[in-house]
Amino acid sequence: MARTAISTALLALLIFCTLPFVYQATQLGIRGMSGTAETSRIFTPNAPITNASIFLHMLFGAIITILAPLQLSEWLRQNRPKFHRFIGRILVGLAVPTTLGGLGYIALKGTIGGVQMDVAFALYGVLLSVAAIQAARFARAGHFTRHNRWALRFFFLIIGSWIYRVHYALWFTIVGEAGHTSTFDGAFDQVQNWAFFLPYLLILEARFTHRDGPFWARHA
Ligand code: HEM
Repeated sequence: MARTAISTALLALLIFCTLPFVYQATQLGIRGMSGTAETSRIFTPNAPITNASIFLHMLFGAIITILAPLQLSEWLRQNRPKFHRFIGRILVGLAVPTTLGGLGYIALKGTIGGVQMDVAFALYGVLLSVAAIQAARFARAGHFTRHNRWALRFFFLIIGSWIYRVHYALWFTIVGEAGHTSTFDGAFDQVQNWAFFLPYLLILEARFTHRDGPFWARHA
C-alpha cells in the first residue's frame, strides 16, 4: 500500500515537472499549425510540408509526453487494465507520427546543430517508434516480460525529449553557457545530442541483464 502511494506520488510529480515542456510544445505546435509561428526559428517560410511535419510532431509529442507516465502506474495496470490498454494504443499510435514528423523535418530542412544532431535525433526517433511497435507487439502476443521491457524503453525514449531540456536547464544553472553555442554545435551540445536517450537506454539494458522477469512490476 505504502509502495503504491509512493510510486503514484512520484509519477504525479513527474507529470507535474513535464508540464512546462508539454505546454511549450503544445502552444508552439498550435501556433505553427495555425500559421502564427513566424517568429519561431523552427518556422520555415513557404514550406508548408516542413512546417506541418515539425509542428504536428510537437502536438503529438506533447500528448505522448503527458500520457507516458500513466503507463507506469501499477495501480492503473492492475485495477484499470482497459484504461492501460487504451492509453497504450494512443501512445503507440502517436509515437509513429511524432517520429515521422521529426524525420521529415530533418530530411527537408535539417536540425540547427548540423549532421551530428541530424543523425542523433533521427536515431532517437527510429528507436522511439521501434520501442512503441515492439511494446504493442509483445503485449498482443501475451509475452509480458518482453512487453514490459520494451514498454520501459519506450517510456524513457518518450520522456527523453523532456530530459534533453532538463539537462540544459541543469547545465546552464550549474555551469553556465560553457560548451553551448547558438547553433548547438558546442562541446556540451554535441554530448547532449546523444546524452538525452542513450545513457538511459544503456542503464536499462544493464538492469535487464541482472534481473529476470518484469522490471518494475510483479503483474505487468
Ligand atoms: C517525445 C515527444 C517530443 C516532443 C514533446 C517534442 C517537442 C519538440 C519541440 C517543442 C521542439 C522545438 C524546440 C525549439 O523550439 O527549439 C522540437 C524540435 C525538434 N524535434 Fe521534437 N519532440 C518530441 C520527439 C521528437 C522525436 C521522436 C524526434 C525525432 C524524429 C524529434 C525531432 C525533432 C527535431 C529534428 C527538432 C528540431 C531541432 C532543431 O533544429 O532545433 N522530436 N521537438
